[in-house]
Amino acid sequence: MATTKKVVSSRLRAGHREGESVRTLISHAQVMRRLKELARQIRRDFPTEPLHLIGVLKGSVFFLSDLARELGGEVSFDFLAVSSYGKGTDSTGEVKLIKDLDVSIEGKTVIVVEDILDTGLTLKYLLRIFREKRPKHLRIVVLLDKHERRIADVHADYTGFTIPNEFVVGYGLDYDERYRNLPDVCVLHLGTRAKAKSA
Ligand code: IMP
Repeated sequence: MATTKKVVSSRLRAGHREGESVRTLISHAQVMRRLKELARQIRRDFPTEPLHLIGVLKGSVFFLSDLARELGGEVSFDFLAVSSYGKGTDSTGEVKLIKDLDVSIEGKTVIVVEDILDTGLTLKYLLRIFREKRPKHLRIVVLLDKHERRIADVHADYTGFTIPNEFVVGYGLDYDERYRNLPDVCVLHLGTRAKAKSA
């Protein structure tokens, strides 16, 4: 009885739909441990500089907020939104700016905070825009790097985890806007029924 209850409640928490299942790849505790290391690394490189974090909506929201709390010293942040994916698990390859920055980054030490570096097309596009705005420093931190899928020649300065070529959800990452609220980073499996529905 207790086991059944546990299965039901974790399913509800994950928001599973028929034919979909998730498997934990990186636990929330592992994410938090790695995040402290990343924050130390960044602060070692910029011990006294005010840091301006730029989060790419919406996937980086949890990562940025947890990272910002680990970074000591002066920290500000801003967000922008791009679209590079449609509704499914494959990139359209096209990047569009949906929401621009609120404040200027000229002369600032900017850290771009991305949830995942996949083909690299999004960051390539963003770096080109940001460089034109003449920040003092421009660095990239990504939580996940799926380097097998890289198309554009983009490297992150700080990387949380290198992961295999699988579609992941949780800790901000979504599939069709769902699963962002999972605390762990999980691999999403789509059964044949779910695949047929999303096609
Ligand atoms: P890129 O332009 O291919 O590097 O893709 C970057 C964006 O694609 C990320 O910010 C994510 O929004 C999305 N993305 C790439 N891989 C995944 C994944 O495995 N799960 C969820 N979103 C992903």
